[in-house]
Amino acid sequence: MGSSGRPKVLQLGLVEHAHETWSSIGEIADIIVPKATNRDELIAECRSGAFDGVKVAYRTFYSVTGLVDTELIAALPSSLRFICHCGAGYDSIDIPACTDRSILVSNTPTAVDDATADLNIWLMLGALRNLSSSMTALRAGTWRGNPPPAFGHDPQGKVLGILGMGGIGRNMAKKALAFGMRIRYYNRTRLAEDLERECEAEFVDFETLLRESDVLSLNLPLNPQTRHSISKPQFAIMKKGIVIVNTARGAVIDEAALVDALADGTVSSVGLDVYENEPEIHPGLVTNPSVLLVPHMGTWTVETQTKMEEWAMGNVRVALAEGRLRSVVPEQKGMAEMWVGL
Ligand SMILES: *[C@@H]1O[C@H](CO)[C@@H](O)[C@H](O)[C@H]1NC(C)=O
Ligand SMILES: *[C@@H]1O[C@H](CO)[C@@H](O)[C@H](O)[C@H]1NC(C)=O
Repeated sequence: MGSSGRPKVLQLGLVEHAHETWSSIGEIADIIVPKATNRDELIAECRSGAFDGVKVAYRTFYSVTGLVDTELIAALPSSLRFICHCGAGYDSIDIPACTDRSILVSNTPTAVDDATADLNIWLMLGALRNLSSSMTALRAGTWRGNPPPAFGHDPQGKVLGILGMGGIGRNMAKKALAFGMRIRYYNRTRLAEDLERECEAEFVDFETLLRESDVLSLNLPLNPQTRHSISKPQFAIMKKGIVIVNTARGAVIDEAALVDALADGTVSSVGLDVYENEPEIHPGLVTNPSVLLVPHMGTWTVETQTKMEEWAMGNVRVALAEGRLRSVVPEQKGMAEMWVGL
């Protein structure tokens, strides 16, 4: 509790859009903003006791925390029970380490689905058309380039294989239907029938997905099990000339193996929003004209950022009021009620 007798909330990262909602949290809790401008300073500030008594932390992807790993978690005050992360992907938070410390973590599912799938479609069409080289040529004053690029491809009638059929994957499927694509998917657990029917998607095994897709869209979360899901052995069985789109996390693909697969023609073109070591990008991708690249812009819109902030703040509010989270991460479902009533 703060000196006011109110609970304390630690703000890790900036509030950019949902200012009113954040003010309303400020009416029921003392919000503590760190002075630290980098990770080392933040850890020192934690250890100084500046955040003692904090119950809930609100965190954004771009906060100074860097990875929420064992080092940082050990420094955070023992009073901390909830981390409300503003983002759908939470690979930057070590969930088992939080679980060990009885800290519950939430993300912002559904809020990101439209924006991410929209960019996914844009990257897919751009990769099918091989637009990257002509866009560069135009700015260089050579119109379509000399010689002009080969003709691109239409999505109509092509098989779109979606790996990871969560909210974003299903949103992508529905949008791709409007482009006349045939949808197949692989998910570790097959979807319920109504969800499958809703996006007219056929369940296939992982190998079939790789073998028969014209376009492969990666929409699975990054965790230790999904790291490098697409690597040499997977490229080896793909349909020749496949187009790959990734708006999930860079490390679900082995980036070096992707560069090789582009070089030997296994993969014809790629649309990427995410990279293995952001903000660094493999030089073999940057220099390849068949690679369409954007710098992690999937949710970079006013509307979606606002929705994500609102969602994460909703978790802060429920944590304060009820001792639970609205969207606890799946790994912690079994312990979601541990702080209720305490
Ligand atoms: C894309 O265009 C560039 C430039 O013309 C070309 O080098 C590359 O092979 C093209 N890629 C595909 C998949 O057509
Ligand atoms: C996809 O598989 C994962 C892992 O088994 C599961 O948690 C998730 O619920 C599945 N997605 C859907 C929409 O059923």
